[in-house]
Amino acid sequence: MDTLHDFHKDEEMTFDDYDEIINPKPQDNDFDAVIERSISRRGFLGGVLAMGSVVAIGSATTALTLISAEAASKRFGFEAVSANTTDAITVPKGYTSHVVSRWGDPLFSDVAEFDPATRGTPETQARAVGDNNDGMSVFADGDRDIMVLNNEYTNRSIIWGNNPDGKPASDADIAKGKAAHGLTVAEVKQGANGWEIVKDSPVNRRVTPDTPIDITGPAAGHNLLKTAADPTGTKALGTWNNCGNGETPWGTYLACEENFNGYFSAENEDHKVSDELARYGVSGKGWGYGWAKIDERFDVAKHPNEANRVGYVVELDPRDPNSTPKKRTGLGRFKHENAEVVLNADGRVVVYMGDDERGEFLYKFVSDGVYAEGGDTEALLDEGTLFAAQFDDTGSGRWLALTPETTGMTKPEIHIHSRQAASKVGATTMDRPEWVAANPLKAEIYCALTNNKNRGLKPNAGGDNTPVGGPNPREANNYGQIVRWRPANGDHASPSFTWDLFVMAGNPTVHSDAYAGSANINAGNMFNSPDGLIFDSKGLLWIQTDGNYTNEDDFAGQGNNQMLVGDPASGEIRRFLVGPNEAEVTGMSFSADRKTLFVGIQHPGEKGNSNWPEGGDAVPRSSVVAIQREDGAAIG
Ligand code: FEO
Ligand code: CA
Ligand code: CA
Repeated sequence: MDTLHDFHKDEEMTFDDYDEIINPKPQDNDFDAVIERSISRRGFLGGVLAMGSVVAIGSATTALTLISAEAASKRFGFEAVSANTTDAITVPKGYTSHVVSRWGDPLFSDVAEFDPATRGTPETQARAVGDNNDGMSVFADGDRDIMVLNNEYTNRSIIWGNNPDGKPASDADIAKGKAAHGLTVAEVKQGANGWEIVKDSPVNRRVTPDTPIDITGPAAGHNLLKTAADPTGTKALGTWNNCGNGETPWGTYLACEENFNGYFSAENEDHKVSDELARYGVSGKGWGYGWAKIDERFDVAKHPNEANRVGYVVELDPRDPNSTPKKRTGLGRFKHENAEVVLNADGRVVVYMGDDERGEFLYKFVSDGVYAEGGDTEALLDEGTLFAAQFDDTGSGRWLALTPETTGMTKPEIHIHSRQAASKVGATTMDRPEWVAANPLKAEIYCALTNNKNRGLKPNAGGDNTPVGGPNPREANNYGQIVRWRPANGDHASPSFTWDLFVMAGNPTVHSDAYAGSANINAGNMFNSPDGLIFDSKGLLWIQTDGNYTNEDDFAGQGNNQMLVGDPASGEIRRFLVGPNEAEVTGMSFSADRKTLFVGIQHPGEKGNSNWPEGGDAVPRSSVVAIQREDGAAIG
């Protein structure tokens, strides 16, 4: 999710833009300082070249020729697809795709099919697939396949598009929108028509913003989490704005709460929230979902601590529909993108996580205990230490522990106000950390830094400067890049790492400087705004984009949002899929036999220009598609 088209039709605004208007940042950096940073940027880039990274900044010609045909990877099992702006899914020759599930598809046989005239009711929506699917996992459980989807948010102009002004006309409309958030758990099965939902499967369930959820870990029971509805500070209701996901070695699903702030509002729009809440973008204005009108918990003037109970990673057991999900406060509170879980060689559990906002930080969690197959996993995501990353310009970096000693905050405060803790230790402000993915073949981790138009120009919401340099080398970065790092001695618990850039996105047909992109970007594979990152078991990196799809100016020739595959060894990147109009591609999972690749398509037609997947004049619907090879072989 990146934009708020619904709310500001005249102007394309991102959620960060909206937060910045509501909570104005400190003054822009002064001009002299910006010039100084761009000078040091040039020095840094030379350093990266000397390190032999695949990243090279130079002329467009350089970018186009540094990767020779001979060096091109033979590991890709497909021919590249061209960028395009068609309202369809484009996959490589020899591959097919079909729709598995759509927003509003019933999970139970007593629920009416999606009705485009009404777009559902609160009751049908609460028992049907949620809207705007994002992170996704398909779990094999015996001969059953269980699909879990994050339903991140709703497009107001679509879910309420049956009303003349595209706004909620009743409390029921607001409740329908609310019920479209959360998680969907559904058994899926492959039949004559391909993969589809198994209605009435015992595992089918929805988790919504009203589902009871336990709060666990260091912040549980803290005064900042106590509310009128829950004086214990341990029993939350619901999860929402679940963005990316994660999977644990013990078979559970992790749903990450991202832009949770926009659902809170106050009767007085100008209500001033605490500095702590303002750092997270909470305000009296909200983003127009209207939840406070039907549920007082979302009135931030009356119940400010409710906003401290969201922004966490939620653990769910997909196999037990009666289980209570858990908010794992050990993993910190911020605008969580995804949670990449790695089992360290010593058995400790390490979780890498990005905080997706301009100038926010990259985190990791290291468990105190060790994982043993079949052992008790209850404390593994609760007890441990949170760290924030600090990058040098020279290719090295370190993890800074967030402890009472380093931050002057108590342990619970660190896990509630994690952004403030990371600011205190001087972590590096990043270009919007989106998904993190760990290479299964070696100790190497990648993070998509999607873009940051404020880089070098404006501080983050906490007033931390955002100098150009290190893994964020371009001022007003509108293309994004992927940074990767290797922990010292292959030990994910180590405080030290080395890093380089795997790719800098750009447009070599428009620019001949750093904005052309790195050496592995050319006119045939260019893209902008990397977001979803997922490794397959062969060690190829799948890259999904959520960016500018105007196909004009800086983005000319890049077409719709897409999915590409990168080879960490050669640096080659090849386009695998192009999404329909005004959609982002987000979320991915393989079937157990690797013959099906499930891919999420979110917010088609967010500005009114798509009828995907049904076509004609159909209401556009976020969906999951299944991609297969025509010859039935495994993918990749
Ligand atoms: Fe929900 Fe940062 O994307
Ligand atoms: Ca994004
Ligand atoms: Ca994302």
